[in-house]
Amino acid sequence: MNENPKIHRLREMRAKSRLGGGEARIEAQHKKGRLTARERIDLLLDKGSFREVDAFVEHRTHDFNLDEQKFLSDSVVTGWGTIEGRLVYVFSQDFTVFGGSLGEVHAAKICKIMDMATRTGAPLIGLNDSGGARIQEGVVSLGGYADIFLRNTLASGVVPQISAIMGPCAGGAVYSPALTDFIFMVRNSSYMFVTGPDVVKAVTHEDVSFEDLGGASVHAEKSGVCHMVGDSEADTLFLMRKLLGYLPQNNMEDPPFVQTGDDPFRMEEELENIVPDAPDKPYDIKDVIRLIFDNGQFFEIHENYAMNVVVGFARLGGHSVGIIANQPAVLAGVLDIDASEKAARFVRVCDSFNVPIITFEDVPGFMPGTNQEHHGIIRSGAKLLYAYCEATVPKLTVITRKAYGGAYCVMSSKHIRGDVNFAWPGAEIAVMGPDGAVNIIFRKELENAKDPVKRKAELVVEYREKFANPFVAAERGFIDDVIEPKETRPRLINALEMLQNKRLTNPPKKHGNIPL
Ligand code: HXC
Repeated sequence: MNENPKIHRLREMRAKSRLGGGEARIEAQHKKGRLTARERIDLLLDKGSFREVDAFVEHRTHDFNLDEQKFLSDSVVTGWGTIEGRLVYVFSQDFTVFGGSLGEVHAAKICKIMDMATRTGAPLIGLNDSGGARIQEGVVSLGGYADIFLRNTLASGVVPQISAIMGPCAGGAVYSPALTDFIFMVRNSSYMFVTGPDVVKAVTHEDVSFEDLGGASVHAEKSGVCHMVGDSEADTLFLMRKLLGYLPQNNMEDPPFVQTGDDPFRMEEELENIVPDAPDKPYDIKDVIRLIFDNGQFFEIHENYAMNVVVGFARLGGHSVGIIANQPAVLAGVLDIDASEKAARFVRVCDSFNVPIITFEDVPGFMPGTNQEHHGIIRSGAKLLYAYCEATVPKLTVITRKAYGGAYCVMSSKHIRGDVNFAWPGAEIAVMGPDGAVNIIFRKELENAKDPVKRKAELVVEYREKFANPFVAAERGFIDDVIEPKETRPRLINALEMLQNKRLTNPPKKHGNIPL
């Protein structure tokens, strides 16, 4: 039977649209070890679930002979599909068309699905691979970016927004991801910078490679702009699917519950001796986390950035939870500028999306010194304090060892609406550690002592017995219970389930003024 000519035309146009910038450019993309925009979508979404919109859109620019180069779909593929059966919206920039650069219609396509995502309450995923604003379209492309930035901001805290950087991304192409909740990058294949190496050389005379200026390691370890790095594009897209499993579709829903099969009453004898007797000896808080949470699984965010604090998602009795933990194995778990900001950001993500927060505390305090003071540790520490104070999701705290000074107040203490606060028996809760405290309050006595070293040792022991234990705080109700380490998992699950119907709202206001 002859094909209906109208249907034939549709099929031809669709096939043309699928080819993006054409075979040669697709081959060039593959040669660089990168996938095309559509291949990425196929890997990200459940098989066969993608429904494309605006496949027949073309740009409308005449300048610079652009009207002689038109590509159906322009330089971005947009639509919706499912991940583990749950609806998501996705845009995937097509580097084979004008280097994925963003002009008027490219921006309009993204805005259309952003509006649909916020109206229907489903996550938005952006796969970015773009040279930024399309130079030939001038201010129209800048306007397009601003339209997207506005939508990113309005959608913030309404639906999860997750970005992957899959190639070289410059200019506006990095600012939209920067407004989203999570940024993923691909190792050795993706770059983010406001201006590329050529512009850097012209302006600052600095010679720098793509990788050293804005590669995945730079952003995952130094700047903290990137939350997670995949070893390949496929690995990165798989990690994005996993992350979504911990998040609800929008701010009005709870995260999905998953039967994990792990015994909620499981006791862990190994926890009894995990904290060394000597208060200055390190241990790895991630060992504690793995022993407590379902099946030892921990989805860590910002793994290689500000490693003195650990943040990430896990499941506890099947419930999705966010973990924030001081890491005694790195800088003794001290809170510095980067750690405070990393933890504050994560607290706000959890609170935005109804994910309960579990805090593990072993912190000697805030980092002292001119470097930190001059760079604003006061402001950064205040961000963490603000984030914890503001959060209304269930908040559980376990003090495993040190809770000293301001850090005691900050790390989800009872005073800032911690719902259930536990301490292990070896916890030390005080204004400062014994050594510093004795130096200050017994300065005169030590100056006049016959044997100051011996006297100081005695005073340290006295102080430790008096203050550096959990019972002074427990006596006042600042700690709800002192628990045996081995029973931490069942106690946390019990507390979490007790809090399932927690209702708490902050006073109505336009928005707070977090110290940015
Ligand atoms: C139009 C662009 C383009 C752009 C790349 N192309 N960027 N076309 N506008 N911004 C085109 C190239 O002309 C080329 O077309 C194709 O895409 C591939 O680019 P290459 O340079 O060959 O690829 P590569 O060597 O991999 O380098 C990629 C790149 C580089 C690093 C992204 O192209 C680059 O530096 N582009 C400019 C980046 C930039 O400065 N953008 C403007 C930022 S200002 P052909 O036809 O030859 O294949 C901005 C303002 C928003 O975005 C600010 C908001 C706050």
